[in-house]
Amino acid sequence: MKPENRKRPIVIETPDNGNLQLDPNGKLRHFLSINGLNRELLTEILDTAESFTGVSERTVKKVPLLRGKVITNLFFETSTRTRTTFELAAKRLSADVLSLNISASSTSKGESLLDTLRNLEAMHCDMFIVRHADSGAANFIATHAAPHISVINAGDGRHSHPTQAMLDMFTIRRHKQEFEGLKVAIVGDILHSRVARSQILALNTLGTEEVRVIAPKTLLPADADRLGVKVYHNLEQGISGVDVVIMLRLQRERMSGAMLPSEHEYFQLYGLTDERLEAAKPDAIVMHPGPINRGVEMATQVADGPRSVILQQVSFGIAVRMAVMSMAMGTMNPGASKK
Ligand code: CP
Repeated sequence: MKPENRKRPIVIETPDNGNLQLDPNGKLRHFLSINGLNRELLTEILDTAESFTGVSERTVKKVPLLRGKVITNLFFETSTRTRTTFELAAKRLSADVLSLNISASSTSKGESLLDTLRNLEAMHCDMFIVRHADSGAANFIATHAAPHISVINAGDGRHSHPTQAMLDMFTIRRHKQEFEGLKVAIVGDILHSRVARSQILALNTLGTEEVRVIAPKTLLPADADRLGVKVYHNLEQGISGVDVVIMLRLQRERMSGAMLPSEHEYFQLYGLTDERLEAAKPDAIVMHPGPINRGVEMATQVADGPRSVILQQVSFGIAVRMAVMSMAMGTMNPGASKK
């Protein structure tokens, strides 16, 4: 692939990013995917995030770990939660934050991705937070960025959304303490979901007893039975006895052709309602990465109900992103600094 030709989609469906993500000491250098990271490292992210949760409660919501560092948000796709919580997390670590407005940048005048990167490097940026519609875009940038720069994947195509998965793991651990013995169901558009791929990898790496996916056949990947999950096509059967129900949005922007009859019919079959939720354990929690489409994948009563932890996921995202950024910059592991 010619790096300057960024019009062509990059497709890396199942890369082994282990070496690229880790420095020679096995410490986090980039955070591109859950793939290739072991249980100890995922647990270290969760434990480090735990140590940051109190920062948001302080009068002065800052720690000086990334003082003097420049962090750049490069969001080539829309975002509400990920972009803002990365920005808040960076500010709480005392970094200087640039959020490039891509639609108003020179990308629209034909500047290549690599030329944009080189210019940001010339401004002495230390970290790129990247969201892109192409699977593999964050890997591409990590491969071509200057050696001192860390790259964090904020969601690439249908490939990976590792910080979302880690904030979801953090939320589950806060409510359920241990992953062993847990049954977790992920419901909806598994086929197009980078979140589902990352969640499945993280849940299995952390030792979850059973991971289920529930979806119509048209919204499951062909290799679903090789993902380390139990596959269901019936919602009530799939959520029976589970501890955690994770609902997903229909990713219409990634669908080609008619994959579903109608949103109304989808809700009739796969929409989570209070009645259907009774099949799960009485203390089951309900999660959703957002954005929610009320009345499509879940009823408002569930989204805003007592078992919903959806807004907690957003809050925990700040601490988890603080953890990932500080670990990747070597500030939580001073001996592993890249410079
Ligand atoms: N969960 C998530 O990635 O949300 P945004 O698209 O709003 O960032």
